[in-house]
Amino acid sequence: MINVPKGTKDMLPSESYKWQAVENAAKKIAALYNAKQIRTPVFEHAELFLRSVGDSTDIVTKEMYVFEDKGGRKMALRPEGTAGVVRSVLENNVIETLPQKLFYIEGVYRYEQPQAGRYREHHQFGAEFFGSGLPCFEVELLGLAHDFLRELGFNDLRLKINSIGCNKCRAEYNAALRAFLSGVNEKICGDCKRRAEINPLRTLDCKVPSCQEIYKNAPRISDYLCDDCKAHHAAVLKGLDGIGIKYVQDKNLVRGLDYYTRTVFELCDGDLAVLGGGRYDNLCEQLGGKPTPCVGFGCGIERLISAAEAHGVAFDNPVPKVFVAAQADCARDTCVSTVKALRDMGVAAECDLMGKSLKAQFKYADRQGFAYVMTIGESELNSGVYPLKNMSSGQVINVKADNLSVIKDL
Ligand code: HAM
Repeated sequence: MINVPKGTKDMLPSESYKWQAVENAAKKIAALYNAKQIRTPVFEHAELFLRSVGDSTDIVTKEMYVFEDKGGRKMALRPEGTAGVVRSVLENNVIETLPQKLFYIEGVYRYEQPQAGRYREHHQFGAEFFGSGLPCFEVELLGLAHDFLRELGFNDLRLKINSIGCNKCRAEYNAALRAFLSGVNEKICGDCKRRAEINPLRTLDCKVPSCQEIYKNAPRISDYLCDDCKAHHAAVLKGLDGIGIKYVQDKNLVRGLDYYTRTVFELCDGDLAVLGGGRYDNLCEQLGGKPTPCVGFGCGIERLISAAEAHGVAFDNPVPKVFVAAQADCARDTCVSTVKALRDMGVAAECDLMGKSLKAQFKYADRQGFAYVMTIGESELNSGVYPLKNMSSGQVINVKADNLSVIKDL
């Protein structure tokens, strides 16, 4: 037998209601914010990710699924959603009118070491807002993230937030960090030695424990913010206070992708981030478009579903309504037409498709969680009145064949 690839998993029928609850909440809340859905290809030119996520990030150097297509082009499965969305809005002139608020629900591919909460295929609900450099843009985006989580029943995921400054403050900070790194050069790992040269900020995401220990004493970007970045950050926090979103300031938060400027944030369940994002004001220009300030987030759906248990969140699991059971073979055609009539009224209904006995039909209906079972046999065919049993209370009511619509209101 061929198994599912390592680091991926099937979404099984017994779990699909959780995914549907997440996707329904995402679409409902996105609509409240007037955010429109966008869908981009699963694969893009690999170069797109090198130029956006960054050629010194783990995501690009170690985790990207890269392949050559039959035309000899270097392609990559998307290792995140933002770059493809930015590519698309530039290519299709979507951002001629601003602001633009977009969202997506899609698969993301990273060749990570599989472990709890880390998959090689995961799915994200993401949002990308284009057009405003004002602090209210972060507040609007985080409002959407917050309302989405609240819609699902999460009340206690704490937001961690930081500012990693703009190019101006980053230059001064990079010099300070490089000076620190050259002092500890002998002790840091090979990857960090390389990162120190290309992009010193990336050393801080290193997963090697001895490096992490050393970086506890590294200079922090928050101490190097220019006045504009400081004011921006303070205004974002004030805006969050204004709409009642709680946060903690985390001065060590830098995120593992290169495109961020100023605000970065994560919502965590224990050590694992469930949702992460920030501002990326330079990315449109970097990818050949007009300078356009942007903010966005990505929320990992697998992690969100796992976190639900720890946070006492139960997803809505709608039950099918009526199973129409045949008590005798002569009633089977009527069962089929009754089910059709119920479905035409918008009532979820099913009848036996396997030639089961009445007892086995009841057992099936019970296992499937049907709220009601209607039984049709010879005497019901004659009387035109069908008994309808409430499967949780056991109560039976009689429904006339020519008045099935009463079931809609049950
Ligand atoms: P990210 O932090 O790399 O950001 O991923 C976003 C979320 O995806 C994480 O918080 C996590 O829940 C989930 N995730 C990431 N990797 C894995 C994995 N291997 N297995 C399971 N879940 C995972 C981004 O991808 C940015 N594009 C977010 C963003 C949008 N920034 C601005 N706009």
